[in-house]
Amino acid sequence: MARRRILITGASAGIGAALARVYAENGWDLILTARREAALDALATEISGRHGVDVAVIAADLADVEAPRRLVEAIAARGLVVDGLINNAGFSRTTGFLATDPAQHAAMVQVMLSAPVALSRRLLPGMVERGFGRIINVASLAGQMPATGGDTLYGPIKSFLIKASQGLWLETRGTGVHVTALCPGYTLTEFHDVNGSREQVSSAYPAWMWQTADHVARVAHAACEADRPRVTPGVMNNVLAALGKLLPDTVALNMVAGHARRLKRI
Ligand SMILES: NC(=O)c1ccc[n+]([C@@H]2O[C@H](COP(=O)([O-])OP(=O)(O)OC[C@H]3O[C@@H](n4cnc5c(N)ncnc54)[C@H](OP(=O)(O)O)[C@@H]3O)[C@@H](O)[C@H]2O)c1
Repeated sequence: MARRRILITGASAGIGAALARVYAENGWDLILTARREAALDALATEISGRHGVDVAVIAADLADVEAPRRLVEAIAARGLVVDGLINNAGFSRTTGFLATDPAQHAAMVQVMLSAPVALSRRLLPGMVERGFGRIINVASLAGQMPATGGDTLYGPIKSFLIKASQGLWLETRGTGVHVTALCPGYTLTEFHDVNGSREQVSSAYPAWMWQTADHVARVAHAACEADRPRVTPGVMNNVLAALGKLLPDTVALNMVAGHARRLKRI
């Protein structure tokens, strides 16, 4: 059987790096991208040494509107074929809508919404043509909640990714392409260091609510292989997602407000 290769965005840390290890363990060749090239190179050396797979590194800043086009062109220039895509790169800003620089809002939308759309639109045709493909869009439990107070755009962006994944799952049925929206809850990565909320989240939520990036990555890989359109790792996260769906808006919004106040976001 031909070797498969998967492009993983945001592979320099956290869930993206864990997904890279899990896919390599399952025999996939990789293309790793993020801004920090040295971290990608170190991961590529680790993974190729351990699993004997081919790992290409292409650094890119996905906040740049042109980055998805340039990334796909750089992949083609190296003669690499992409059988899988994981749209994982992401970050949040928890300072409230008005106190957040509009440039940061634009970057959030670009990195987590527009870049996944652009990469999927460019890479999916080849997957459909070849009768095999895998796409994982890393959304969030936040995308299944009615709102994310203090981090106003994050939840809606992740909701978009869930709905877009479900639409793609419907459109690609029977083509050999699987599409999965991954909706993790609290996961131990650099995410909360980057948004500056490590102290608040660590004191507000007990250790048992946190999952490892490795566990989340394994759940994602299995769900995508099983062609599940959406997966939320962890029983408690599934209970919260169900409550977000079932409770009337006002009750659910009050629940979210309590969460945002505990984290000093509103
Ligand atoms: N951790 C959680 O609790 C949690 C929960 C639910 C969902 N998620 C989602 O999981 C995904 C991965 O986050 P994580 O938790 O693994 O966080 P992380 O450890 O901070 O990793 C984020 C990754 O995104 C990359 N990235 C950020 N901005 C980028 C940009 N402008 N261009 C290219 N790459 C960029 C970072 O690489 P560079 O800095 O090298 O560019 C890094 O590799 C995100 O989409 C996040 O929303 C996380």
